Amino acid sequence: MICCGMIGHDAQQQQRALLDNIPDMAWLKDRDCRYLAVNTAYLEILGVPEKLVLGKTPDEIWPPEIAEVYLRTDRAVLKSGRRRRYEESRPDPTGSIRWFETIKSPIRDHEGRIVGTVGISRDISERKAAEDELVKSRAQLRDLSNYLQSVREEERARISRELHDELGQTLTALKMELGWLRERVPAEPALLRTRLDRLTSIVDQSVVDLQRIAADLRPMILDELGLVSAMQWLTQNLTEGGVLSIELSFDREDVAYPSDVSTAVFRIVQEALTNIVRHSRATHARVAISHDRDELLLEVSDNGRGMQLANTKRERLGLVGMGERAHMLGGSMNIESAPGRGTRILARLPLISHKPSETAAQ
Ligand SMILES: Nc1ncnc2c1ncn2[C@@H]1O[C@H](COP(=O)(O)OP(=O)(O)O)[C@@H](O)[C@H]1O
Ligand SMILES: [Mg+2]
Repeated sequence: MICCGMIGHDAQQQQRALLDNIPDMAWLKDRDCRYLAVNTAYLEILGVPEKLVLGKTPDEIWPPEIAEVYLRTDRAVLKSGRRRRYEESRPDPTGSIRWFETIKSPIRDHEGRIVGTVGISRDISERKAAEDELVKSRAQLRDLSNYLQSVREEERARISRELHDELGQTLTALKMELGWLRERVPAEPALLRTRLDRLTSIVDQSVVDLQRIAADLRPMILDELGLVSAMQWLTQNLTEGGVLSIELSFDREDVAYPSDVSTAVFRIVQEALTNIVRHSRATHARVAISHDRDELLLEVSDNGRGMQLANTKRERLGLVGMGERAHMLGGSMNIESAPGRGTRILARLPLISHKPSETAAQ
């Protein structure tokens, strides 16, 4: 039996000093959930003097809906003999909701029988608010990054199209004019024709450069011929003249993907393959696209030197960006890698649109 009346005056004073030194609400209760001791912080929050609390049960001093929680958790601790930790909310005297983290533990006598409970309850409203704020600002950052990503993609597509269509046309016209001129200049002096030939080859080179720049911005092949062709174009570009061989595998080639899906897959593969070329020292890489019900599964693997994932640096923006692209479409991405063991990137993208913001709201 623990009872204030049964412990000596000095011990009682020590218990009081110990309890009052705790800045959070703290209390002791007996087996029947009656308060044996409460500290000053408790009394201040409750707003009643100690003598009206001691010997009472929670339902005699707290509003029913709050008392119900206290009694239920007290009984759970008494029954299980285990410590319980939970978060609860309660309005303060001004009516605004405050959050508390409460820990309740059993008290045992010298024979191990449970004779009561001890509890402590900390006001965590500020922490809760900061956590909510963090979650909110993380979601906002994600939205902003997604927005910037898609604006950037649109902008690239527009510039690519304009370069290709407008400047491309101009260069073609220029080349035709040069051809016309060349037909008509006299054979002598030869220098004139040589200069015209040189001009023509400069225009030819500009057309090649222009096509490369436009395709780097956004390959039109992606919009015109689809993902499979764009991937073939990409791998061909990356393997030209190098030691790396890239194997492409598709379980279906006839799928017309929504444009946001093909863009995401293309950009993920582009970043993954660029990383392989830049960092992996691999001789072989594999890109595989398969389908599992309503999901597209993408796998990019290499036989290169791999990396230590544990010490992931914050500045791995390429890898983060790949994950974000998958997340943006409601999918996910995983990286498997270890030093000397190559790297494998796996992404799942739903083909039926459900954006993360919609699922997060559930
Ligand atoms: N396929 C890979 N093989 C080995 N290391 C890789 C591979 N992909 C990425 N890495 C490592 O992860 C780091 C981060 O990649 P990333 O975020 O794309 O940034 P960046 O390519 O700009 O360095 C790289 O610097 C490299 O050390
Ligand atoms: Mg990179």
